[in-house]
Amino acid sequence: RRRVTVHDIARAKERGEKWAMLTAYDAMTASVFDESGIPVLLVGDSMGNCHLGYDSTVPVTLDEMTMLSAAVVRGTKRALIVGDLTFGSYQEGPKQALRSAMRLVKDAGVGAVKLEGGERSHEQIRTLVEAGIPVMGHIGLTPQSVNAMGYRVQGRGEEAAAQLLRDAKAVQDAGAFAVVLELVPAELAAEVTRTLAIPTVGIGGGAATDAQVLVWTDMMGLTGGKVPGFVKQYADLRGLLGDAARTFAADVAGGAFPAAEHEVH
Ligand code: KIV
Ligand code: NA
Repeated sequence: RRRVTVHDIARAKERGEKWAMLTAYDAMTASVFDESGIPVLLVGDSMGNCHLGYDSTVPVTLDEMTMLSAAVVRGTKRALIVGDLTFGSYQEGPKQALRSAMRLVKDAGVGAVKLEGGERSHEQIRTLVEAGIPVMGHIGLTPQSVNAMGYRVQGRGEEAAAQLLRDAKAVQDAGAFAVVLELVPAELAAEVTRTLAIPTVGIGGGAATDAQVLVWTDMMGLTGGKVPGFVKQYADLRGLLGDAARTFAADVAGGAFPAAEHEVH
């Protein structure tokens, strides 16, 4: 079976079918999600927080993104893999964006890239699309701009809502195949979803978007500390791994591991 394509994604919106997207940062986890039928996996720059130990997405480099994107591509057979363009790898303009996207496509093998910004990233999106690289937009809360905007709900109030709609249309007009709406009021996300022909992918955007994305470590309960209120926790991996590690340590200390069946002679 072939990989999911942007055409499959477009067809899903025509049919009114909703779909799920998860982040992935390594081959093994990605293979689990791929085998579970998740159609689109995002190698998000949330790897900064979730995988690399930074305290935001800002420091993540294109080299790190390329390495982990390649791992996710190698670990999967079916999902469309979307690589995130990192902060500083596309803001200089379309030429820089194309150079960066080409690395993710050619060196890592991703099927699409994502970048943040609506009207402000319009030219970059158009250039990549014209070069044959499918682009996913990302508007609303854009974490790479944390130093300017903080982590707060976007699109509240008439003026901000109108800007979000303009951003959504700019992303679509530039040729993107989908757009992430992060942390925007549910009514506004619904309006954007009705207005656009391309699918909306919500995170903290309510139930009306065409798709939903969550950061995998948040939804599986691996993240230490608080996760955003829009996250539903589907597992307690932190508890599971912690219990197993403590049991292993106790077994070693007490002599229960290794047992005879774990020995070679
Ligand atoms: O990096 C990421 O995980 C993302 C999603 C939250 C959309 O950009
Ligand atoms: Na991201």
